[in-house]
Amino acid sequence: DASDISKGTYANYMLKEIDEQPVVMRKISSHYFDGKDIKIDEKMLEDVANADRLYIVAAGTSYHAGLVGKDIFENLTDVPVDVELASEFGYHMPKLSKKPFFIFLSQSGETADSRQVLVKVNELGHHSLTMTNVPNSTLSREATYTMELLAGPEIAVASTKAYTAQIAVESVLAKAVGEYKGVKLAQEFDLQGQLALAANAIQTIVEEKDRFKKIAHDYLANSRDAFYIGRGIDYALSLEASLKLKEISYIHAEGFAAGELKHGTISLIEKDVPVFAYVNDGVGAAHTRGNIQEVEARGGHVLVISSKKYAEDGDQVVLPAVDEMISPIVSVVPAQLIAYYAALERGNDVDKPRNLAKSVTVE
Ligand code: G6P
Repeated sequence: DASDISKGTYANYMLKEIDEQPVVMRKISSHYFDGKDIKIDEKMLEDVANADRLYIVAAGTSYHAGLVGKDIFENLTDVPVDVELASEFGYHMPKLSKKPFFIFLSQSGETADSRQVLVKVNELGHHSLTMTNVPNSTLSREATYTMELLAGPEIAVASTKAYTAQIAVESVLAKAVGEYKGVKLAQEFDLQGQLALAANAIQTIVEEKDRFKKIAHDYLANSRDAFYIGRGIDYALSLEASLKLKEISYIHAEGFAAGELKHGTISLIEKDVPVFAYVNDGVGAAHTRGNIQEVEARGGHVLVISSKKYAEDGDQVVLPAVDEMISPIVSVVPAQLIAYYAALERGNDVDKPRNLAKSVTVE
């Protein structure tokens, strides 16, 4: 039960929260859907549908969920989306579009960096929505609308189930707005079916924990650095995957656009440097595989993570397939588990990593 605040039989919260993700996916689906209809605030729907641009504002893992959301909103609502780091946006605000709508993503709803942007947005008289796990939080109260993530309390500092919940709730809103506007892709997108598939896919992955424990050991036991690479949706995912690893294992990790490696970063690839390559982005897959070969030619230790089987690419984790748009809900889970076991092997406190706080209330 995702709303249970005790650790139960788990040694720490992080693993419990990783395991709760299938339940959270099902909860989001049953909460927001009534048969085939999506139940959300009508006024909010109108407000979002009337916007000429969406601005997603967030920090940390929530920012990464926003990067995934950009694709989903642009595909399903046909409106351009900017994703902004709260700590930058408030003080270096770009020229806004004529009819902006703001979406704040915040697990806690208390992040000061995000709040200072919301205060400015309110002063400018623009409407906003907070997607949060804490319905009475500051950001929730001060925004025009709220959508709940329904992930249940997230205690571990490294965010897991809130990330996947954010992507799911962004999809709900995007589909609802797209349907309202008559966007064909939105009408045809079977989100309920996809969330059910995603729940089952996550379940399959979390039942293979020993496999990820072994991967964490084989790839990371003696590593100071690690890379996650991917294109498109996998690039957005790589940023979150590498953040997870940094936060709790303290291994220096970077997420890179696979095609950008050759423009600089590949100079860091030498014998045995671990490279986790995501290949779910259909359009970019062939090129990403070329980039994988470049890394392997320089001795990099590559693990391919993809829903398609690429036997000739060496070691691979094959994931159950879901629609590419929401695929990070599934493909982030191996990265969560790899980070978890790498941290555990190093004897770190996985729930309370050094220097980090669950919610940061200073700017
Ligand atoms: C802190 C946490 C991160 C989190 C970020 C944003 O830095 O350590 O895990 O992603 O805040 O938090 P929010 O509650 O706004 O999603």
